[in-house]
Amino acid sequence: MRPIRKAVLPVAGLGTRFLPATKAVPKELLPIIDTPILSYAIEEATQAGITEFIFVIARGKEGIAKQVGHNPDLMRTLNADGKGDLAAVVEASTIPEGRASFIYQDKPMGLGHAIWCARHAVGDEPFAVLLPDDVILSPQSALADLLAAHEAVGGNIAAVIDVAKQDTSKYGILAVEGEEGRMVRASDLVEKPAPEKAPSNVAIIGRYVLEPGIFSALSDTKAGSGDEIQLTDAMRRRIADAPFHGVRIDGTRFDCGTKNGLLEATVAFALAREDTAGTMQRILSSYGQHSAWSRVG
Ligand code: G1P
Repeated sequence: MRPIRKAVLPVAGLGTRFLPATKAVPKELLPIIDTPILSYAIEEATQAGITEFIFVIARGKEGIAKQVGHNPDLMRTLNADGKGDLAAVVEASTIPEGRASFIYQDKPMGLGHAIWCARHAVGDEPFAVLLPDDVILSPQSALADLLAAHEAVGGNIAAVIDVAKQDTSKYGILAVEGEEGRMVRASDLVEKPAPEKAPSNVAIIGRYVLEPGIFSALSDTKAGSGDEIQLTDAMRRRIADAPFHGVRIDGTRFDCGTKNGLLEATVAFALAREDTAGTMQRILSSYGQHSAWSRVG
């Protein structure tokens, strides 16, 4: 099997939850400490061997192309000022020339539609999908685990986590047929079921490896949950021909599409980083006492 080299990153969402910050700045460029949310997904993909990045964007989000592209003026200035270390950091977050492409999704018609927009850029080969809002803190690339699973069993694959029963309505949920190690085989999938209708609490998070057959399934998929074309519905349609497996991630996932998730990720990443761990520990202990104290007051 040829290694998977292409990844689609849907980044067309408006990010209204982060207004006013997202009036001019795409939500994917909000930082966790000093690194844009998007960069974590690019780094994870690069570590998994991805070399071609296909961004599905919306008008007004061109800042994303600027962020991942080269900036020779900035590099020159940093190098001339003796800031080679910063220049290296900037370089590492840049996608090499000719390896990033940008496709416009003209109407916000859902995740499935966003993926379908990338059909010609992907062509007839399996590919990865990363939803950058889902940031994963783990010892190694979560996408690399999915690619290994795909090589072992083929079909369509997604990263999964266990969620609280009351949260099933936020996720694509698996009807679990069997489990082996970290792999969960699904007999069916349901997008955002109410807790009482959910077949399990095993939930899809934003990492996928998909067979190209998904594109024709997406063409035939009508709007579903939220009146949007859902990727989950298309994977469900394909299940007889392209078996679906979930892979439990070895790490922690943060939903950085929400304020609580971004806040928590900031604390977790700060604690995990050598240069910020001490400061964050001090902040937490001082504010922990402060809020207990102010509640009493
Ligand atoms: C999307 C998918 C859903 C998945 C989730 C993971 O939903 O449709 O199946 O569980 O991402 O983050 P969204 O969060 O875009 O509404």
